[in-house]
Amino acid sequence: MLFPSLIASALQRLSDSILLLRYRRRPYREYYRAVMKRRTKLNPRDAVGGRWEMGSKGQIELLQRYGLMPQHTVLDVGCGSLRGGLNIIKYLETGNYTGVDISEEILEAGREFLRGASLEGKRPNLFYTDNIEFKEVQGKTFDYLLAISVLTHMPPEDIETLFANLHKVMGDRSVFLATVFLSKTGSIYDTVMRRNFFYPYEWFRDMGARYGLTVERDEKGDAKQNLLVIRKQAAST
Ligand SMILES: C[S@@+](CC[C@H](N)C(=O)[O-])C[C@H]1O[C@@H](n2cnc3c(N)ncnc32)[C@H](O)[C@@H]1O
Repeated sequence: MLFPSLIASALQRLSDSILLLRYRRRPYREYYRAVMKRRTKLNPRDAVGGRWEMGSKGQIELLQRYGLMPQHTVLDVGCGSLRGGLNIIKYLETGNYTGVDISEEILEAGREFLRGASLEGKRPNLFYTDNIEFKEVQGKTFDYLLAISVLTHMPPEDIETLFANLHKVMGDRSVFLATVFLSKTGSIYDTVMRRNFFYPYEWFRDMGARYGLTVERDEKGDAKQNLLVIRKQAAST
């Protein structure tokens, strides 16, 4: 029914603005963590943006399009409640999936989905992180990194932290697939209670260059979000 869903979304907007006010002087991710906590309590599938079946199937298909095989390793940055992770874990050899997220609640929801799908035996590594500096996975590089609908919720300073730390988890042949919202005005802006961030492609490209990374666009990405393909720059000979 339309009416109750309108009331629910109005209430959600109201509670987001109250949270935004409460967290206005704190680092952005503390606000977003509080948003995730509240949304996970309501519905751990909707908390990561809904479209569960499509998001789940689409993520493994995307990785396979880039050559993923069962023996590869995957780092799922902002893995959430394992919407994409479950299918990836199922496909990969035991122990080859790692997920990190800034929300303990959404990770716990993911662990529950994992038990529900009887996939604990695949021994995925799930880590809470305060910020994306990869301390939890230190010393390990991954064949594939994935961030679906994550950079879309990150302010510039957190994306810079992410890019600055990618060298720790990427080898020379690693491929990082990340979805973003590309700016329609050429500048950086955010919308919807600071929960969607838009950036010009050139901003990502230049940031990548500062940290030894190439950032390319894949035009075949999801219609709602754009796909970036990030690799380490080839060492000059
Ligand atoms: C829209 S959900 C997408 C989750 C998952 N990638 C998927 O496709 O289902 C965004 C996720 O990114 C996480 N997140 C937001 N900012 C983050 C950051 N700075 N570092 C790591 N995770 C972050 C959120 O907690 C949330 O679980």
